[in-house]
Amino acid sequence: MNIDFLSKDIQEHIAQVRAHIDGSFARYFVITLGCQQNEADSERIRGMAAAMGYQPAERAEEASLIVVNTCAVREHAELKALSLLGRFKHVKAAVPETVIALCGCMAAEPGTVRTIKEKFPYVSFALEPNMLHRFPELVHRALTERRRTFLLGEDMGDIAEGIPPVRSTSHRAWVSIMYGCNNFCSYCIVPYVRGRERSRDAARIMDECRELIADGCREITLLGQNVNSYRSELTFAQLLEQIARLDGEFRLRFMTSHPKDVSEELIAVMARYPDKIAPAFHLPLQSGSDRILKEMNRTYTRERYLSIVEALRRAIPDIAITTDIIVGFPGESDEDFEDTYRTVEAVGYDSLFSFIYSPREGTKAAKLAQTTDEATIKVRMERLIALAQRSSYEKNQAYVGRRVRVLCDGPAREGEEAYIGRTDSGKLVRFQSAGDPTGCFVSVTIDKATPFDLFGVADDT
Ligand code: 5AD
Ligand code: SF4
Repeated sequence: MNIDFLSKDIQEHIAQVRAHIDGSFARYFVITLGCQQNEADSERIRGMAAAMGYQPAERAEEASLIVVNTCAVREHAELKALSLLGRFKHVKAAVPETVIALCGCMAAEPGTVRTIKEKFPYVSFALEPNMLHRFPELVHRALTERRRTFLLGEDMGDIAEGIPPVRSTSHRAWVSIMYGCNNFCSYCIVPYVRGRERSRDAARIMDECRELIADGCREITLLGQNVNSYRSELTFAQLLEQIARLDGEFRLRFMTSHPKDVSEELIAVMARYPDKIAPAFHLPLQSGSDRILKEMNRTYTRERYLSIVEALRRAIPDIAITTDIIVGFPGESDEDFEDTYRTVEAVGYDSLFSFIYSPREGTKAAKLAQTTDEATIKVRMERLIALAQRSSYEKNQAYVGRRVRVLCDGPAREGEEAYIGRTDSGKLVRFQSAGDPTGCFVSVTIDKATPFDLFGVADDT
């Protein structure tokens, strides 16, 4: 584990923890909730734990360092995190030296941190995402001072470079290109918990991508809350183009994009590198009603959104478009929902993620009164899901009979000849293969489709 690029004081904390746990059989366990950004952060938490001398544990109960990396986007995710933490009470009771940490977006919410302080005395520390690089320092404190630490709002700025990630696969990787968000969509907690937009240096991103490709990585997903507003000496489109021009057999994805920032330049770059840039676009619509979009502070209209979809399909005919929709935003009338329904129907998504609106304390929308009853929201949700399934099924059916490139993730089940992987457009494929193509690109002929998966046979069979 190379930690040479970390600052001297972080290296020192790592060395101190290493010395402290030396000779003991210390193990770590990280649980990740929420989005891909959290997945990427967890890889860095694992990297720091490994650098400190911890080995991975199979189960939380066997670990002496337990981390819950949390999500604050909806109440449901928060309740899940608290119930998980509750499960570790007995672990701490049995082995009092166990360090239990709360990381992620919930650790940046003052209300949650108060709850943890008062009601979860066995949690050793809370560390918000912007201060991830202080993880070794807090572990060190928890081990040596037996003091609980709650860092909140102390620094919102620096990007900690040089934390070596421990990745769960070698053929796919997340690469964060920016952190935070400036958009303040009225329902969203992210700008409050992850702070303002900060972009990483293009040179660092390029180095990381070069290294990954040299190590045999076949898929790189560039991550950011709003990748299109990436800014360094390069725009996002320029960055994407530079990475696409690197030699090697790999494909590039990125997420998430805000419709307001999708540029013609980006669409042109995607069209120019069809072998390298995956024909897939996650473009959250959130609502198809202009009135609700305004209330959400999304700054685009339904018409503008549809024109982006049209431009994408014109330039990249095979592109898979996916989206997020919030159902039951305060004040969403039947008519507003019908606008959403019609827009979803008009676009014809490859897949759609729908969420029931969840008020988040501190956001603008949390002050708005909910006018729609739960039963109505449920019916809207069901209609939307049924529509989305029909659309996915139709899109997937169009693959039957086609031969497509699939990056194999591994056997569907241990010992089976059925494998799973994803097409360039991001579709999950279950396929038969004579060899074990895990981590490689394979050509698969699709013979069956459901709304969720494709099925097929690899060329080598
Ligand atoms: N309630 C419900 N869904 C939300 N999202 C973000 N904030 C909320 C909220 N308060 C959804 C949006 C976003 C996705 C990641 O989560 O659709 O695109
Ligand atoms: Fe939240 Fe909007 Fe930023 Fe996405 S763009 S993270 S929905 S504020």
